[in-house]
Amino acid sequence: MWLKDISLLNFKNYAEANLHFSPTVNAFWGNNGAGKTNLLDAIHYLCLCKSYFNPIDSQQIKNDQDLFLIQGHFERDEREEKITCGLKRNQKKQFKRNKKDYDKLADHIGLFPLVMISPYDSNLILDGSEERRKFIDNVISQTDAHYLEELIAYNKHLLNRNSLLKQAAIHRRLDEDLLQIFNERLVFSGALIFEKRKKFMDAFLPYFYNHYKYLTNDCEQVNLTYQSQLEDNHFETLLVQSLPKDKALERTTVGIHKDELMFSINEMSLKKNGSQGQQKSFLIALKLAQYSYLKGFKSKNPLLLLDDIFDKLDDNRIQKLMQMVSAKDFGQIFITDTNKNRVEAIFNQINVEIATFEVNNGAVKNA
Ligand SMILES: Nc1ncnc2c1ncn2[C@@H]1O[C@H](COP(=O)(O)OP(=O)(O)OP(=O)(O)O)[C@@H](O)[C@H]1O
Ligand SMILES: [Mg+2]
Repeated sequence: MWLKDISLLNFKNYAEANLHFSPTVNAFWGNNGAGKTNLLDAIHYLCLCKSYFNPIDSQQIKNDQDLFLIQGHFERDEREEKITCGLKRNQKKQFKRNKKDYDKLADHIGLFPLVMISPYDSNLILDGSEERRKFIDNVISQTDAHYLEELIAYNKHLLNRNSLLKQAAIHRRLDEDLLQIFNERLVFSGALIFEKRKKFMDAFLPYFYNHYKYLTNDCEQVNLTYQSQLEDNHFETLLVQSLPKDKALERTTVGIHKDELMFSINEMSLKKNGSQGQQKSFLIALKLAQYSYLKGFKSKNPLLLLDDIFDKLDDNRIQKLMQMVSAKDFGQIFITDTNKNRVEAIFNQINVEIATFEVNNGAVKNA
């Protein structure tokens, strides 16, 4: 699967742009603020119905304009597919596949798998556990439509249980029957999500360790561990045991919304002890594992978007990474850099031809 071309109208800093891509490596180069990352984000939007960076759709529309349009032609399973998406201010976004509207956007997600690696991913290490759960949820959602539905249901039951606990504090009386109903619903959705997350981690971990090992010549010991309170206890029992605490705090303190993904390097916390390059290598291995996992599931190569990948990595790791992603196991790649010479030299060194695009203040030239 690959993206043959893309047209943009009023998307972020682009008034208009039309680009034809190579099925292998495409490099966008230009100064800071020129619009390189915005191009990657347009591709992300077309594949996954949302921006990678900004959850507010209307902010993708070029300032002072009323709508944006993104259109692209993919080759998928030896057929051409035309995907169009558009958003008018204050209206619902629209997605069309070969001129036909989707019944629901969820039907589009997963058809054109994609993995983005960007400096923004450092949130995964530096921020709270919610970011890491979101990472797991996003990967599973691209391969399992029911997962997202169950997660939405779980969050709804959680909100209901929490507001019941708040009401109980105000009125000094807990409706035990209602609590029992919310508990049962939470247990049903929570246990299912826990099983799916666990199964996912079992498949995902070997990919992660292999990629990290390759990238770093096997000289560092890293660990990725999934932790859940449901690992050793029935969710139902946990809810009963935690009730006094939950009543006091007026919220639910046990469940899969407390799951954590622990990152460590040489048996120490990656956040506290890892160098910037080690943290970046860890994140890249995590994303490449996502790539391998999706590829295994979909039997097609996801698009790989590499934003500012060269910063903080030593030459050895850069060369190994580029060698790997331009080998035949990988498919189409989009890469950004501020320096044309650097990106050309790296691929020259490994004998890989690339298509380059000069990006300058919201305009792109195929160079
Ligand atoms: N909705 C919008 N309307 C107009 N301009 C926008 C909009 N959203 C973002 N921009 C502009 O896009 C520019 C940033 O583009 P982008 O992040 O793609 O740059 P870049 O080439 O990746 O730069 P860097 O090398 O610093 O990463 C900023 O100047 C920003 O103001
Ligand atoms: Mg950028």
